[in-house]
Amino acid sequence: MIKFILNDVEIKTDLKPGMLLLDLIRYNQQLTGTKIGCREGDCGACTVLVGEIKNGHLEYSTATSCLMAIGNACGKHIVTIEGINIDGLNAIQEAFAKEGATQCGFCTPGFIVSLAGFSLDKSTPTYERSIDAMNGNICRCTGYKSIERAAKNFTEILGQRSTQEPVEFAVDNRIIPAYFLKIKERLLKLNGQDTQSATAGNKFLGGGTDLYVQQHDTMPGEAIGFLFDKTELKGINQYDDVCEIGGAATVADIAVSPVFQKYFPALKEYIELVSSTQIRNMATVAGNFTNASPIGDLTIIFLALDAKLTLNDGAQKRTISLRSFYKGYKQLDKKADEFIEKISFVLPAETDRFNFEKVSKRTHLDIASVNSAIKISMEGNVVSSASISAGGVGPIPAWLSNGSAFLTGKEITPENIEELLKIVQSEISPISDARGSEAYKRLLLSQLIKAHFIKSFPALPIQNLLHG
Ligand SMILES: Cc1cc2nc3c(=O)[nH]c(=O)nc-3n(C[C@H](O)[C@H](O)[C@H](O)COP(=O)(O)OP(=O)(O)OC[C@H]3O[C@@H](n4cnc5c(N)ncnc54)[C@H](O)[C@@H]3O)c2cc1C
Ligand code: FES
Ligand code: FES
Repeated sequence: MIKFILNDVEIKTDLKPGMLLLDLIRYNQQLTGTKIGCREGDCGACTVLVGEIKNGHLEYSTATSCLMAIGNACGKHIVTIEGINIDGLNAIQEAFAKEGATQCGFCTPGFIVSLAGFSLDKSTPTYERSIDAMNGNICRCTGYKSIERAAKNFTEILGQRSTQEPVEFAVDNRIIPAYFLKIKERLLKLNGQDTQSATAGNKFLGGGTDLYVQQHDTMPGEAIGFLFDKTELKGINQYDDVCEIGGAATVADIAVSPVFQKYFPALKEYIELVSSTQIRNMATVAGNFTNASPIGDLTIIFLALDAKLTLNDGAQKRTISLRSFYKGYKQLDKKADEFIEKISFVLPAETDRFNFEKVSKRTHLDIASVNSAIKISMEGNVVSSASISAGGVGPIPAWLSNGSAFLTGKEITPENIEELLKIVQSEISPISDARGSEAYKRLLLSQLIKAHFIKSFPALPIQNLLHG
C-alpha cells in the first residue's frame, strides 16, 4: 500500500504505483487547483511541493506532478495549492494580487507553489533566487514583469528571516498554514512503516522526466522498478581523487554538491542551462545516460570526464566506460535487468581545464541543438591529455576520439585549434532536423569548441577566434 501525506491528510492507497500524482490529485482527491497545461513538464501549471526527511531535516523542493509517479511520493509530504491556503490570502497570493500578477489565473497556482518552495529553502532568499524558483513556470497572459515585482516584494518579507527555521518563519508570516509545523513528526512516524507497495520490475524509473513524457499512457500498467528513493543509489562522495555518484542522484543534487562546487567553479552556469528547477529536482544522472538522447547534457559532461558506470542486475555487477555504453541510436550496452548503480570519474586536477557549452532555441527549459564539453590537462604550455564530447552531431552522444588525440602534445595556438576543428568535422555526422540544419550544427560545434578554448585559456592570444 502506498502511503504519503497530501496537504494535511494521510493518503493510503492501492492505486497503481505508476499512476501519475497529478491524476491522483485532481481525479481521485478532487483537488483541482493544480492545473494541467502541457503534461510534459514544460509549463509548471501542475507544480507541487515535495517534502521529505533528509539527514534528519524536513526539506521541500518543487516537482511537476504531471511527470511524478505516486510510487515516488511514498513517505513524503505532497503539497498542492490548496495545502498552502490560509484564512484570507497568504503572503504570496497577496503579493500577486497587489501587483496584478495574474490575469486568466491558469498558471497562478503553479507560480504560487514555486514561490512557496522558495520560501522553504534554507539558502539566503535573494531576488535572483526567487526568479530561479519560477524558471519552470510559464505564463501566457500577464507578461512577466508584474510576476517579477510580486516575487521581489515577497522576497523582501523573507529577507527578515534571519536564523529562524524556514518552515516556522513561513507559518509565522502567513505564507503557509500552521499544520506544516507537525509534518516532520508525522513523516517520521509514517516512515517507520512500510510506505511503498511491493512492486518490482525491469522497467526502471528514476525521476520519470523522460519516461512519463514518452510513455505516459502505458507507464501506470508497467511492472516498475522504483529507483529514485533507493538510499544505496543516493549520494555524491569523494574518495581521494575519485568522485562517486549514486545512480539516483539528481541534477539538483549535483548543483548543491560541495564536491562539484569545489572542482567545477563554473558549475552554476552549466546547471542553469539544464531544464528547470522542478525538472532538475526530479531528473537523475542515470536517467539522463539511459534515455540515450544524443543531446543529453549530463551525458555530454560525463563523456568528457571519462565516467565509468557500475551496472547491477541484482546478482552481479560490472563496470564499463560511459564511452562504450552507446552502441547505436538508442542502443545500449545494458541488459534489461541491469540498472546503473553508480557513476564514478577522476576529479580534475587543479591545473586541468573543464568547460561545457550548449546552444538551444531557448536559453532555458530547452534541450540542446548542439552541446559540447572539454577536459584538458596541461604540462606547461603543452596539452598532456584532452577529452572532447559533443551532442546533437550524430546518432549517439559523441566522444570525439580523433580530435581529443590530435590535441595531445600540442600547444594551444590558433593554428592548432583550426586543425582540430577540421578533424572534428570529419568525425561527426549531424542530420538536418527541427533543431537545425546539418550545416548549422557543424558551424555550432566549431563555435562551441572555440568557446571552450577562449574560456579555458583567457590569457592566451586566441580571444578573437570566434570572429575567425
Ligand atoms: C521539461 C523538460 C526539460 C528537459 N530539459 C533537459 C535539458 O535541458 N537537458 C537534458 O539533458 N535533459 C533534459 N530533459 C530530459 C530529462 O529530464 C533528463 O534526461 C533526465 O536526466 C532523465 O532522468 P529521469 O530520472 O527523470 O529519467 P526517467 O524518466 O526516470 O528514466 C529515463 C530512462 O532511464 C532509465 N533509468 C532511470 N534510472 C536508471 C538507472 N539508475 N539505471 C538504469 N536505467 C535507468 C529508465 O528506465 C528510462 O529508460 C528535460 C525533460 C523535460 C520533461
Ligand atoms: S502540466 Fe505542464 S508541467 Fe505539468
Ligand atoms: S495568468 Fe493566464 S497564463 Fe498566466
